[in-house]
Amino acid sequence: MNLIEKDQQYLWHPYTQHKTAAPPIAITKGEDALLWDENGKEYLDAIASWWVNPFGHSNRFIADAIYKQLTSLEHVLFGGFTHEPAVQVAEKLMEILPSNQQKIFFSDNGSTAVEVAIKVALQYFFNQGEKRKTIIAFENAFHGDTFAAMAASGISFYTMAFKGMFIDVVRIPVPIRGQEQISFDALELVINNYNCAAFIFEPLVQGAAGMVMYAPESLDKLIQICQSNGVLTIADEVMTGFGKTGKTFACDYLHTQPDMMCLSKALTGGTIPMAITTFTQELFDGFYSDDINKALFHGHTFTANPTGCAAALASIELLQTEAMQQHIQRINQSHLGFQKRIGQHPKVKTARTLGVIFALEIETGDDSSYYGSIRTKLYNFFIENGVILRPVGNIVYILPPYVMTDAQLQKVYETVERALEIV
Ligand SMILES: Cc1ncc(COP(=O)(O)O)c(C=O)c1O
Repeated sequence: MNLIEKDQQYLWHPYTQHKTAAPPIAITKGEDALLWDENGKEYLDAIASWWVNPFGHSNRFIADAIYKQLTSLEHVLFGGFTHEPAVQVAEKLMEILPSNQQKIFFSDNGSTAVEVAIKVALQYFFNQGEKRKTIIAFENAFHGDTFAAMAASGISFYTMAFKGMFIDVVRIPVPIRGQEQISFDALELVINNYNCAAFIFEPLVQGAAGMVMYAPESLDKLIQICQSNGVLTIADEVMTGFGKTGKTFACDYLHTQPDMMCLSKALTGGTIPMAITTFTQELFDGFYSDDINKALFHGHTFTANPTGCAAALASIELLQTEAMQQHIQRINQSHLGFQKRIGQHPKVKTARTLGVIFALEIETGDDSSYYGSIRTKLYNFFIENGVILRPVGNIVYILPPYVMTDAQLQKVYETVERALEIV
């Protein structure tokens, strides 16, 4: 049996209907923005492998940091123990996070980062003897696949099998251009009618919804409404964090500051699964008590794994280099040029850019479903042409590693342009 046959015998892949899906592609090597399959075919990773890999595949700097850490302390439990790499990550994050973020809690992935934030929001009020059980979230949000994260997510085919089994979530429209007031009014209405604990949102860009973008001024207004009503705010920066929007965090575009932030994906440069939820001092103090029952009884075996922390420290160091900041600006400029050009194409309904994120919506008539036939046609075309792009329905988005070269970016754009001819 070859690798694919063995895979098909034993493995269950994410988001995959195994009866109808094509067999997976076996990747054997990665370097910078490139991946190679077992037959030596080259692919440009134009979505940074689900948005985790800004500094390129097999990055030596991060690999060396991981190796060094592995040979001194690979892991130690974090209940009752601590270590240098965890403290260093915390110190580093204090330098780059919004100034009100004072405490950090480690977990394993974006979903658990969100899970922790939602549990903290609910327990914060519980600890004060107040029963607030509603979470506010955007329509078409995506916050992950564990239960509270799923509850907050609004893309139905991810969650429909579990309808009726979730914590209470009320949705409001996203304040996209022209819909701002509708969104503000909806938030006020929800806050007036429910006992709301928190509002969770993907700041400025809704990734899984197809890179839906909205303005910082609108988010500021929504956060202000929450703050003036004592509702906590949770910025899920799992996708947007660490440079994707052109600033370190999407929240850096805001005048207001959220009470909590969720970080993962690019945190370790796509090497080791790790996540962090960050909090204000006030939230931490809401659990600080002589009463053991007021503690946050949440933890994961690999919490603050030293190797993951070493990878995070190396990644943040890379992000802060002049070279990496220039790459981000270069890709942004390149995207803006492409947006101007492709925006005129008769088959393009809209095109948008923020930082290294680019998305265009294809005019399709009625087939824009998430996994519809247009999406499959496009995906197959991209793969045949050696470019990894995973359209969301009729939306094609590009989110390249920051190290993707100009020539590689041009190849991605040309492939997208050629794809417009087949739909
Ligand atoms: C905004 C956001 N939050 C949370 C998640 C979940 O992260 P993970 O897949 O690591 O659980 C994702 C994943 O795409 C995401 O985009």
